[in-house]
Amino acid sequence: MTQTLDRSAPGRPERLRQALSVEAISKTYGDPPNEHVVLQELSVRIEPGEVVSIVGPSGVGKTTLLRCLSGLMAPTSGRVTYGDREIASPIPEVGVVFQDYSRSLLPWMRTRENVAFPLQGRGVKKAERLAIAEEKLAAVGLNVGRKYPWQLSGGQQQRAAIARALAYQAEILLMDEPFASVDAQTRFELEDLVLDLRRRLGLSLVVVTHDIDEAVYLADRVVVLAKSPARVVDVVQIPFGEQRDQIETKADPRFTEARSRILDEILH
Ligand SMILES: Nc1ncnc2c1ncn2[C@@H]1O[C@H](COP(=O)(O)OP(=O)(O)O)[C@@H](O)[C@H]1O
Ligand SMILES: [Mg+2]
Repeated sequence: MTQTLDRSAPGRPERLRQALSVEAISKTYGDPPNEHVVLQELSVRIEPGEVVSIVGPSGVGKTTLLRCLSGLMAPTSGRVTYGDREIASPIPEVGVVFQDYSRSLLPWMRTRENVAFPLQGRGVKKAERLAIAEEKLAAVGLNVGRKYPWQLSGGQQQRAAIARALAYQAEILLMDEPFASVDAQTRFELEDLVLDLRRRLGLSLVVVTHDIDEAVYLADRVVVLAKSPARVVDVVQIPFGEQRDQIETKADPRFTEARSRILDEILH
């Protein structure tokens, strides 16, 4: 088991961050004779503080894998673990941000109440809940806590969804095509936001994306899946560390090399 002492978040109790992993998971939809084996004996491990992108053709099983990692869906066989705990349902340490931001926030609550909402079940008092919400909104660069979600742009709603996961004390964010519905400039800003959160808070990230440039730009490792059933055909190490720049990093020959290698694997 890998444990890393988290010194990156002053004011928070010191905690041991954990690795998230799936070990030999299989997932079958449907019953015989119409069963569909989507995942078979798939293993992926995300180390504490690591950013892993998952790419692969449409329908390969990326969303299925992410749902298993989050505890939202049980695999047909195999284990999902966070540290030495087996995950059978969602846990606060593992947050999920979906592509469809318009459905992830409750329209009748102000943004800061949306962000504070998960804390209600933990017995945190209202004033403290709202203070935490404002702190997390500031962490994602938002100053719109009093507005309703439908008054926000798509990019702002996605930031609010990330703030809510942070309020819940997520240590690892699982993101499924998170920036696919926003314009290109907003997408770059959101990519840099999650990289910044990673640096400041020591967050781990798992990003499912069909955008290969995004996969390489964000990740320490890109896991390339092929079907069917889904299997890992390649794991590409991305050598840029924590500091990245939309223009310089993407012009680096190592970036182009990684992108060509992954594209080749997906197309052939
Ligand atoms: N709830 C479900 N019931 C039956 N089949 C499903 C279900 N969800 C996904 N599938 C099928 O499983 C395969 C993988 O889907 P998915 O994980 O969404 O792939 P991806 O996210 O890579 O596009 C697809 O063939 C899809 O049709
Ligand atoms: Mg999907």
